[in-house]
Amino acid sequence: MPVGVRRLTGGANWLTQCSFDPPMLVLAVDNEAHSLDLIPESGAFSVNFFASGQRRQAGRLARPASRAPDKLGEFEQRDGETGAPLLTGLLGYLECRVAGECPAGDHTVLVAAIVAAGLFAADAPLEIHQAGFNYAG
Ligand SMILES: Cc1cc2nc3c(=O)[nH]c(=O)nc-3n(C[C@H](O)[C@H](O)[C@H](O)COP(=O)(O)O)c2cc1C
Repeated sequence: MPVGVRRLTGGANWLTQCSFDPPMLVLAVDNEAHSLDLIPESGAFSVNFFASGQRRQAGRLARPASRAPDKLGEFEQRDGETGAPLLTGLLGYLECRVAGECPAGDHTVLVAAIVAAGLFAADAPLEIHQAGFNYAG
């Protein structure tokens, strides 16, 4: 799933829930990711979910910004309430405000409150095993 912060975005599957009440999640972001530089500035990001037929688009967004600086420009979008981009042609989104961060080796773990969520379509989600992608050391 792509994670959008202002303009840049990266694919992410090192993401999981960490609190029911309030709803919160954790996300591990590569220390070399350009998107990580923008998080202290905005204090927010969005998690956007692909539908099952959107494997090709998922591959395009997973490219690093160093190789594809305007990759987010290929997608229809609008700003969410935090200013993070919501990709309106995808399945749906979570909008998050950063509550804390923790160094974790070559990644940084962000802890974030989910402040909004929505669906743009009623399809099934693209699952990582179905897409054949991986992100493993
Ligand atoms: C299947 C898949 C999962 C990924 N998961 C993560 C992840 O959890 N965290 C992360 O920092 N990058 C992940 N990436 C790499 C990002 O897509 C991206 O290349 C990297 O974060 C650089 O982002 P940038 O565009 O902000 O520089 C993943 C890539 C793929 C293909």
